[in-house]
Amino acid sequence: MDGGYTGLCRRLISEAGASIGDEVLVVTRKGEYRGFLMMRYELGAADHIVLKLANGYNIGVKVWDDSRVVKLSESRPPSFRAVEPPPPDPGLPHVAVISTGGTIASRVDYRTGGVRPALTASDLLSAVPELSGIARISAEVLMSIYSENMNPRNWALMAERVDSLLRSDVDGVVIAHGTDTMGYSAAALSFVLQQPPKPVVLVGSQRSSDRPSSDAALNLVAAVDIAAKAPIAEVGVCMHLGHSDDVIAFHRGVRVVKLHTSSRSAFKSVNCEPLALWTRSGLKIQAEKYHRRGGDDYRFMPGFDERALLLKFYPGMSPEVLEVLRERLCLRGVVLEGTGLGHVSSSFIPTLKRLRDEGVFVGMTSQCRYGRVDMLVYDNGRDLLRAGVVPLDNMLAETALVKLMWVLARAEEYEEVKRLMATNLVGEMGGRSMPEGVG
Ligand code: DGL
Repeated sequence: MDGGYTGLCRRLISEAGASIGDEVLVVTRKGEYRGFLMMRYELGAADHIVLKLANGYNIGVKVWDDSRVVKLSESRPPSFRAVEPPPPDPGLPHVAVISTGGTIASRVDYRTGGVRPALTASDLLSAVPELSGIARISAEVLMSIYSENMNPRNWALMAERVDSLLRSDVDGVVIAHGTDTMGYSAAALSFVLQQPPKPVVLVGSQRSSDRPSSDAALNLVAAVDIAAKAPIAEVGVCMHLGHSDDVIAFHRGVRVVKLHTSSRSAFKSVNCEPLALWTRSGLKIQAEKYHRRGGDDYRFMPGFDERALLLKFYPGMSPEVLEVLRERLCLRGVVLEGTGLGHVSSSFIPTLKRLRDEGVFVGMTSQCRYGRVDMLVYDNGRDLLRAGVVPLDNMLAETALVKLMWVLARAEEYEEVKRLMATNLVGEMGGRSMPEGVG
């Protein structure tokens, strides 16, 4: 036995002759807890034993000197045997599923409590057998990383792979992705894969598939169904719409953001409606305009220049922050996340003028998220405009950063960077800003 336990926990577990994965009863002065013995998290409290309960949740049980561990049954060695998937139905559409990591693309090892990537077609079909009735699936692991470790080179790799799949016989592409930065990746793919002929659907899950409240299976079913058949050929994100377990939203990739740390309905379309709502009875298109499946106007436009920055302004922030970062990172562009209608302190104006004179692009978005930037209302806004700041309408700050990296990779001159940043290219800005909550 090891499992990361030390001191008292280790002694109690050894005295019981228990090993990781065994079913045990932990008897403490607070109560009795029955479950499977899990490894201790490296940063977990040293006096807690981690159990996986029958309902799938993990708990930490605090133990004292007078606590006891009783071994109830030996663990069976972890054996995950994928159920043999049914032979693919040649009449069904063909969907490619690419795994990049995150919760949705992982499988829990019940013995160790760890998660590991699992995304062969058999794994997928045995985990979510319903998929075999929707499409012929081919699955591949492109990378296996938490999405906070993604960077523009990972976006580029993803885009290249999707590009080659879009040129093959598949009817749509699904990308399993960690949720934390899925909005950034969706925006990145939206700019690189312009007017794709088939849907490109990013999908994640907020709750791992070992938890009863997991959203993984339904999100995946909806994503594969949309990739297989939807008339909308855009890059989008497929996640639960609300708390109920029956409606999945398909959000436009440049308009979607994760707004909740743990809720299944964390993803919202901001300043527009989702592209469509999916239920088991069909797809309801919400968007007034969308790119249709099967067009011949597809363009693959790769490349990101990382010399860009997203800076959230706060009261009292010194303009020196911007000056130092500009020097250190050799910045060519900055997206400001300003207050309200698009403001930063007037103490920034000399720095902003200097950046403009040096050809560094500075664009303004709002921390408010909902609504659009309007820098003509207050004199401070007008001064910022005069200093060269470019208002970015109702574009999400995250999308504006990704777009800036993409624009910088294809425009050398300041005026061209400015023109592209202020132009709606793939639905990232413009339109009536919807009231909060509709997405
Ligand atoms: N940190 C997360 C990620 O974005 C893991 C959990 C998830 O998939 O949401 O990869």
